[in-house]
Amino acid sequence: MNKQDQLKQQVAKAAIDYVVPKLKQNDVLGIGTGSTANFFIDMLDGHQDKFRAAIASSEASAERLAKINVAVLDMNDVEQLAFYVDGADESNGQLQLIKGGGAALTREKIVASIAKQFVCIADESKWVNTLGAFPLPVEVLPMAREAVARQLESLGGEPVWRKGCVTDNGGHILDVHGLQIADAIKTETEINQMVGVITNGLFALRKADVMLLGREDGVQIIYPGLGT
Ligand code: A5P
Repeated sequence: MNKQDQLKQQVAKAAIDYVVPKLKQNDVLGIGTGSTANFFIDMLDGHQDKFRAAIASSEASAERLAKINVAVLDMNDVEQLAFYVDGADESNGQLQLIKGGGAALTREKIVASIAKQFVCIADESKWVNTLGAFPLPVEVLPMAREAVARQLESLGGEPVWRKGCVTDNGGHILDVHGLQIADAIKTETEINQMVGVITNGLFALRKADVMLLGREDGVQIIYPGLGT
């Protein structure tokens, strides 16, 4: 296993230690998507009796949860999640995130919206001063792809169609290169207003509540604005 995967595994274990003791029998847990979230799902095996069920942010995570016999619910049947645990592609010191490298951004944002606490788990390569070095994923309705791309160019970015990628919702993804996102709430709001956009990968209006960051010298628990 490479160093980055070791750090992902460490933060997944830290998330188990952070979340599981706080769970109540009737709680529903939100589970994200990606390699870090996968480590977390695998480590939930053995803790299935500590909570009622899960909501997953992708079909892939739902399948992985089902394999370890965690009940996966429809979100329409759930009012609130005790925790949402998920990775990120970038985080700044405010715990504003870029997500969607795995194309699951829309469901991730929906699941995060009903979580009491969003616990982000990431290795230190994801920690940045300014968001935007990681191309910002924007999910669009297929017919609006080029129209939205032109509008994204007006923000100073260079949108690139992620060819061959169709999301769980039937959407397409534009990855916007070259943005330096100084005001993430403003950028998230502006892109949300573009007709044809389903979601953008900025999680600033609903940022993470706590970050478990895997570093060479151990896992750090970070709250918004407090830095490392
Ligand atoms: C999925 O769409 C993303 O938001 C992931 O959370 C993000 O890409 C992190 O993925 P890894 O855990 O695989 O680095």
